[in-house]
Amino acid sequence: PIKLGILASGNGSNFEAIAQAMENGQLNAQIPVLIYNNPGAKAAARAANRGVETVLLNHREYKNRETLDQQIVQTLRQHDVDLVILAGWMRLVTSVLIDAFPNRIINIHPSLLPSFKGLHAVEQALQAKVTITGCTVHLVCLEVDSGPILIQAAVPVLPDDTPETLHARIQIQEHRILPQAIAIAASQISHQTARREIAAK
Ligand code: GAR
Repeated sequence: PIKLGILASGNGSNFEAIAQAMENGQLNAQIPVLIYNNPGAKAAARAANRGVETVLLNHREYKNRETLDQQIVQTLRQHDVDLVILAGWMRLVTSVLIDAFPNRIINIHPSLLPSFKGLHAVEQALQAKVTITGCTVHLVCLEVDSGPILIQAAVPVLPDDTPETLHARIQIQEHRILPQAIAIAASQISHQTARREIAAK
């Protein structure tokens, strides 16, 4: 099974969806580590409940984004991670992380990219008065919320929606498409590994 390193900042419902998909046999993976940056993040408690090792890397204790990312890379390498999942990771990532895991970092974003990049994507969609929004799973590149798209799901905006009600409807789709996208990326990685092994013979 592929080894996932999960980065989370808050609630961790997407971590839970990944763990659930593993439990149901929909995703053949292991989670050797969950890294979180906010002390008290519910994601860490959820991981601990499922016996997943957690590591707190509090960004407030690092002098810049690069030094935080160096520590993240070291932690991911120590756990022999194949694929990195930003599951509600609310920090910008730098080339330090991206170059260490090229095409091996996946992000989930609560809008139909390229619309509503950055923070508060759900509020942005409401303010724009769109009638359809959604979520996107994509590979991470240096430009924020811009890498190749793996899967998207559309979600209707209803007339009385608040940021909370709309976000809840989007999250139902996130929890469905994030494990699917991970399964696709994982099968690509295992094919690459198999080809490399054949070539080395
Ligand atoms: C998710 O809706 C995810 O799309 C969003 O944070 C939420 C985390 O939920 N991510 C971003 O906005 C990234 N810029 P969770 O902690 O319950 O998984």
